[in-house]
Amino acid sequence: MFCWKCVSKVGKKPDNVNRIEKVRNIAYGNQKILGILRGRTFHAKAQSETQVFRKRRTSITLIHESIITQTRVTNTMAESMICIEDFEKYALKHLTPSVRDYYNSGAGEMFSLKLNVEAFKKYRIRPRFLRNVSKRDLTTTILGERISMPLGVAPAAMQRMAHPEGECANARAAQEAGTIYILSTISTSSIEEVAEAAPDAIKWFQLYIYKDRNVTLNLVSRAERAGFKALLLTVDAPLFGDRRLDIKNKFSLPSHLRLRNFEGELSSKINNAESGSGLNEYVTNLFDASLTWNDIKWLKSITKLPLILKGILTPQDALLAIEYGASAIVVSNHGARQIDTIPASIEALSEITKAVDGRIEVYMDGGVRQGIDVFKALALGAKMVFVGRPMLWGLTCDGKNGARAVLEVFRKEIDVAFALSGCATVNDVTRDMVQHESYYSRTHSQISPDETKLQNVKGNYTTKKVHNVRFPVALCGRQ
Ligand SMILES: Cc1cc2nc3c(=O)[nH]c(=O)nc-3n(C[C@H](O)[C@H](O)[C@H](O)COP(=O)(O)O)c2cc1C
Repeated sequence: MFCWKCVSKVGKKPDNVNRIEKVRNIAYGNQKILGILRGRTFHAKAQSETQVFRKRRTSITLIHESIITQTRVTNTMAESMICIEDFEKYALKHLTPSVRDYYNSGAGEMFSLKLNVEAFKKYRIRPRFLRNVSKRDLTTTILGERISMPLGVAPAAMQRMAHPEGECANARAAQEAGTIYILSTISTSSIEEVAEAAPDAIKWFQLYIYKDRNVTLNLVSRAERAGFKALLLTVDAPLFGDRRLDIKNKFSLPSHLRLRNFEGELSSKINNAESGSGLNEYVTNLFDASLTWNDIKWLKSITKLPLILKGILTPQDALLAIEYGASAIVVSNHGARQIDTIPASIEALSEITKAVDGRIEVYMDGGVRQGIDVFKALALGAKMVFVGRPMLWGLTCDGKNGARAVLEVFRKEIDVAFALSGCATVNDVTRDMVQHESYYSRTHSQISPDETKLQNVKGNYTTKKVHNVRFPVALCGRQ
């Protein structure tokens, strides 16, 4: 990365330099620059990494030309981003193919990747009305900490590929939005850098366990010292999934970036791919695939921080998590990046929250793209949800501001979902407010009278007999 000062180092200024007030920085890895032109922030595509290195002056001139052509687009960007899909479209267009594929793809044929999003649409919201929703409050309490809404930022590796400020920008966005930021072990900003960038954010540290246990000991004590509030162990990654696009692209971390939580080999071994994906090589060589539930005991013995297990997909593992002392679990299929044809996280959620029965907090992530998805996850028993890719798309669009904008789009949509479903607070969102689509396609004879007695509903709920079968009034057509 180099800045405006570095431009002057290369000698004579390019001709059109007067049009630029300040170039904040240039990320040649993802071939994008970020600067300010006539008081406005902009992005533009830079030339290739080699050009930036070898012919700085020429490429800077070219960059400036491209800034000028791109400015008009970015000026209207903020107004045009009205839903998460808009951020996605922008990011897909502007990331380099290898980073785009790394961020967006899933394992195998990517069946579960699509399912994560599609499965939400198989649940129907059952709104309740006339419940005074004039004042709404989205706040909730997670492991004793008050947060502004039930949505936070999932751990995602290597965020400086999306934007030069990477994890620091994302954490600042979470801080401003008053929600939780989870930093990945394999991040391109260190624990200390993120703590300094977002001192007031509620930060959790995600752990991958390396074969060398001293690495984990070191990470845990640094996270504690830096004020992180919880440790989140990802349990679904003894190795990384079959991510075919990464193999095709020989994906590795761009050479100007490092895994900043480490020194030496652990920080840079990911910059080269000998064959296939450099990331998968790194993980296979260094992560400890021999982990068992006994290691949870070990982890608990080395920290006072609450321990959250991420990647739980069955009631059996959820019950083990309780038995081994986890403070919370995240129902997650790792953004469908590990093993294909596993259930969507939202499909797995309901039976898990039922089994856990309130003994520990349950969160979920995977495929959350709209406020109504958050509403459905809460109704199915999650205390909060996390989002991964949407934050990377926001970062790509405009660093901290883009990530913040993503969070605000979610906040607005969650608020509308609450209002239009008759909920003024998170406590008003109850299990009966969401039904799987199969509920509505049952024939009359498949519905037992007992089922029509709605559970957990506040207020009056009436049933009516139709052809000698008792139905919820809501299902009986016009009254
Ligand atoms: C590019 C990328 C990198 C990720 N890196 C990590 C990681 O380092 N640790 C982890 O536990 N999960 C990681 N995940 C999984 C996310 O934490 C989360 O489970 C997933 O992104 C949620 O799905 P969504 O992207 O549909 O919101 C990553 C996901 C993506 C897309």
